[in-house]
Amino acid sequence: MQDTIELKGISHHFDTASERIELFRDLSCTTRAGEALAIVGPSGAGKSSLLSIAAGLEIPAGGTVRFTIDGALVDALTMRANSGFIFQQFHLMPELDAIGNLALPLRLKGNRNAFDIAALWLEKVGLKDRARHRPHQLSGGEQQRIAVARAFVSAPRFVFADEPTGNLDMHTSESVAELMFDCARETGCGLVIVTHSRELALRADARLLLAAGRLEAIA
Ligand SMILES: Nc1ncnc2c1ncn2[C@@H]1O[C@H](COP(=O)(O)OP(=O)(O)OP(=O)(O)O)[C@@H](O)[C@H]1O
Ligand SMILES: [Mg+2]
Repeated sequence: MQDTIELKGISHHFDTASERIELFRDLSCTTRAGEALAIVGPSGAGKSSLLSIAAGLEIPAGGTVRFTIDGALVDALTMRANSGFIFQQFHLMPELDAIGNLALPLRLKGNRNAFDIAALWLEKVGLKDRARHRPHQLSGGEQQRIAVARAFVSAPRFVFADEPTGNLDMHTSESVAELMFDCARETGCGLVIVTHSRELALRADARLLLAAGRLEAIA
């Protein structure tokens, strides 16, 4: 059975005190579990906003967003509960150690085996010996490996990543990208990535360019 996200005729804008910022109009696209989609485009084009809409974090000004899990229509809240998120700035909880950060999404869902599962993921991302280290004691690349594991730890249907390698050097970017795509492939979940990196975008199954309010498939 399929897990899908369908955007149809999406428009979005932000109103500020002095003006309306029109981001896009009449955008449509579909993505599904098992597929990796990259969204590229110039700064300010609205990529992060589009990602938030696709993840059900933000409601678009116009158009419809349709989420299905196992072929059944679900609401944004349900889709969010079945999604993982990776950000440019890692966003780990500073007061929790590595294993605590990994266990948190599981604990929030009442999983009694949270720490055992977290330990397995820590090993999977090669940071078993850093379990008791807090984020400030880890390098950027190590923090992002933890963040990738955290996104996948509760078996999501989709993982959304906004500039996941934006703060990393080239070598570290490649290893984090590899980890992210390996995790997605192994778990069969969908991956939606916003990136400025051509290398990262080329790893995806499909690429969409968001520019001047339009979305188009590119090679
Ligand atoms: N909450 C908000 N209120 C007002 N304007 C906003 C808000 N969020 C985003 N914007 C504006 O909408 C536009 C698109 O922002 P968005 O963050 O989606 O772009 P982006 O393509 O992700 O850019 P970047 O590549 O720099 O991250 C920008 O002009 C931004 O200033
Ligand atoms: Mg952005």
